[in-house]
Amino acid sequence: MDKVLRALVALTFRDLILLPSLSEVEPSEIDVRTKVSTSHELNIPLVSSPMDTVTEAEMAIALARQGGLGVLHRNCTIEEEVEMAKKVKRAESFIIRDVITIRPDQTVGEAIDIMRHHDISGLPVVDDTGKLVGIVTARDVRFTDPRLRVSDVMTADVITVGEGITIEEAKRILQEHRIEKLPVVDEQKRLRGLITVKDIMLRGRFPNAVRDEEGRLLCAAAISPFDLKRAVELDKWVDVLVIDVAHFHNRNCFEATKKLLKHVGADVVVGNIGTYKAAEDAITELDGIAGFRVGIGSGSICITMELLKAGSPTLFATAQVADAVSDYGADLPIIADGGIRSPGDVALALALGASCAMMGNVFAGCKEAPGELVAIGGRYFKRYRGMASPSARERRHAIDRYHSKGIAEGVEGLVPYRGDVATVVAEFVAGLRAAMGYAGARNIDELREKAIIAVLTEAGAREAAPHSIYLPSQEPFRSP
Ligand code: XMP
Repeated sequence: MDKVLRALVALTFRDLILLPSLSEVEPSEIDVRTKVSTSHELNIPLVSSPMDTVTEAEMAIALARQGGLGVLHRNCTIEEEVEMAKKVKRAESFIIRDVITIRPDQTVGEAIDIMRHHDISGLPVVDDTGKLVGIVTARDVRFTDPRLRVSDVMTADVITVGEGITIEEAKRILQEHRIEKLPVVDEQKRLRGLITVKDIMLRGRFPNAVRDEEGRLLCAAAISPFDLKRAVELDKWVDVLVIDVAHFHNRNCFEATKKLLKHVGADVVVGNIGTYKAAEDAITELDGIAGFRVGIGSGSICITMELLKAGSPTLFATAQVADAVSDYGADLPIIADGGIRSPGDVALALALGASCAMMGNVFAGCKEAPGELVAIGGRYFKRYRGMASPSARERRHAIDRYHSKGIAEGVEGLVPYRGDVATVVAEFVAGLRAAMGYAGARNIDELREKAIIAVLTEAGAREAAPHSIYLPSQEPFRSP
């Protein structure tokens, strides 16, 4: 009984509201930049869930180009997850490092095959010592006898640059010589990288993109604390490793994470956790973690709270973890994960201490999410399933996410098609800025300081939604 009297109130997104405050800033001036982990910043506070109906390479590329971050799912082999990470990292870069090359004694036919296979328009020609001896482009081989040697058709007099080149210098050289590719070489003329016009143009097309120091898109990947091999392999490619277990506040997870932290260099975000005590234990015991993923059971496909009567709603979890982070003066960004449906939900999570919002349901409805469109009765949907749903568990790779292995803790179904990531992000960011405008905040730090939050009654929550009106269609509807 005593325990019942001491019961906490675990408030959810539907229970709270941001009160309007004096605003001295217009929504368009509001800065939504944030941190996703100790050493990585994002231009928008949105992250996609590591789920096999949400984040593969296409989603991660699209979201990073908009300024957010995709977390690749792990319901696949290590090789498949690494392949996804490579695809994101190769999508664009200022200097391409793992350059695809050809030898001068290979044939034109081989050059054509390599270019076709990798969908590229030219190859640096490199001899056995790694020295650059020429460049061959699609134009050089277009109407040429495929039996000829590459050395017969390549341009031998190649314009090259050294390592210290800046983007502005590269642009000038490419423009001046009207060339598409600029090899980067060392003093011995050994090939060190490649700059392409295509990559430089992509930078202009996606000015809000988040990139690493090599100009490649930021990428995160889900890992299990018990799969060191996966973590080490992914560490070579991604910027952030996100521990992906349903209940991280667990002795075995902590011990495995301690070991894992010694073997990887990327930022490691741990989760999911839902209480002050879990954050406190992680802060005091796990040296070198770079952030928290919080919320247990609020996800739209979760049945953990209903089935097991255990969990910590995302908003409540965010507030709990934020209190611990602040009490310990730790620089550990918080990703609020699960149940986030609207820009207002994102604003509430940020106001209570989150740095980012992780969404599965919302991004699952996007064009770039894995899977085909499903048409039912003239409406379009995409499939979405919990990672502990019966069909996701059949693939078994991520089965350790849910320790109660004998039971499905997720469901599967369909979500309305929402269009492409760029459109969905634009709507969310516009909504978030509007919400921050109501709260009188010019950036996320100010939102945390200034936000005044009120509790809605059940009647209030009903009043907050459209009422006393017949709505022919409540589903958002977009055609492909
Ligand atoms: P939303 O609300 O965006 O939530 O769909 C996505 C988050 O839900 C978590 N997740 C699960 N939770 N059973 C659960 O209890 C599951 O099968 C499941 N699959 C995903 C995960 O944290 C995700 O980011």
